[in-house]
Amino acid sequence: MPGRNMQAHPWHVLGTGSIGGLFCARLATAGSAATVLLRNAGAREAWHAAGGLLVEHADGHRQQIEAPVRIPGDGGPLPRHLLVATKAPDTLAALAPWLPGDGEGQLVLLLQNGMGTSEQVRARWPRVRLWNAVTTAGAWRETPFHLHCVADGETRAGRWDDAGNADLDAAVEHAAAAGLWQCSDDIRVHLWRKLAINAVINGLTAIHRCRNGELLEIAAAQAQLAPLAREVEAVAAADDVVFDEPVLALAERVIHLTAANYSSMNRDVAAGRRTEIDFINGYVVERAHAHGIAVPANGAVLAAVHALA
Ligand SMILES: NC(=O)c1ccc[n+]([C@@H]2O[C@H](COP(=O)([O-])OP(=O)(O)OC[C@H]3O[C@@H](n4cnc5c(N)ncnc54)[C@H](OP(=O)(O)O)[C@@H]3O)[C@@H](O)[C@H]2O)c1
Repeated sequence: MPGRNMQAHPWHVLGTGSIGGLFCARLATAGSAATVLLRNAGAREAWHAAGGLLVEHADGHRQQIEAPVRIPGDGGPLPRHLLVATKAPDTLAALAPWLPGDGEGQLVLLLQNGMGTSEQVRARWPRVRLWNAVTTAGAWRETPFHLHCVADGETRAGRWDDAGNADLDAAVEHAAAAGLWQCSDDIRVHLWRKLAINAVINGLTAIHRCRNGELLEIAAAQAQLAPLAREVEAVAAADDVVFDEPVLALAERVIHLTAANYSSMNRDVAAGRRTEIDFINGYVVERAHAHGIAVPANGAVLAAVHALA
């Protein structure tokens, strides 16, 4: 029975923004009283003032969630199952107060775009049980605790490696049975596929300050698509990841499907926020260096987005 099993393995959600808030709502629907981990007392006051989290779903129904809240320094038992949905560069700082030891007895599921955070988390917490999830769901925030879900999408979850306590996996499996995600044995392929799409599209939309679809109309952007895709394919192959379709075709299909959208990187640059570029093209460049592969197109996008920030 999913509800009872979910209650037996309570989750803590760290990063209750657009996508973390959406998964808070999904956990509540599945019968799990997830605890929300906020950054400080100010955020907790704002949460209570807002009456918790309001999620407006794509089908129009509104869901109000009044979950228990903790902030660093509150005391209490360590969270056993953490679903992390901060932006990638915030991951280590956000996790630090909640994993004071080596991660023994704790499970972290990273639900983020980009790659590189798993290696960082593993290096810092050698005994944590580490999972990743890749989602095509989409959400945006009207105010900090008022979200709009624009796409239910599909979510896959898979284990990063074998370290940590396998007994903790029951929480992920019960959440899968409750419909939060599908468990996958090849999560790296899913991570790389999303990374490949983002590496081809997102940086260029920030550099050219354009919607996704305009990448096919702006000559300088269009000319970069194939070199970026070729480089990502070569680096993924060196990491033993082979895609089931060419990266250029994959990226162009996503460009057509999302032609009217602005990517999150375009929005982050426009708003003067830190981007996730180091975990997208930056990861491609890092892995390319490890394999001795030249990736000038990805290097140029990385440098250009750094310069914008
Ligand atoms: N939004 C989408 O549709 C979508 C879809 C798929 C994947 N993603 C990926 O999901 C990740 C999150 O994106 P998002 O759009 O949900 O970002 P977001 O709306 O900015 O949410 C990030 C959340 O993390 C919180 N946070 C940061 N540092 C924290 C800390 N130390 N302690 C507690 N909370 C902390 C932020 O709190 P503050 O508000 O206080 O800063 C914010 O609530 C990214 O990797 C993104 O690429 C997003």
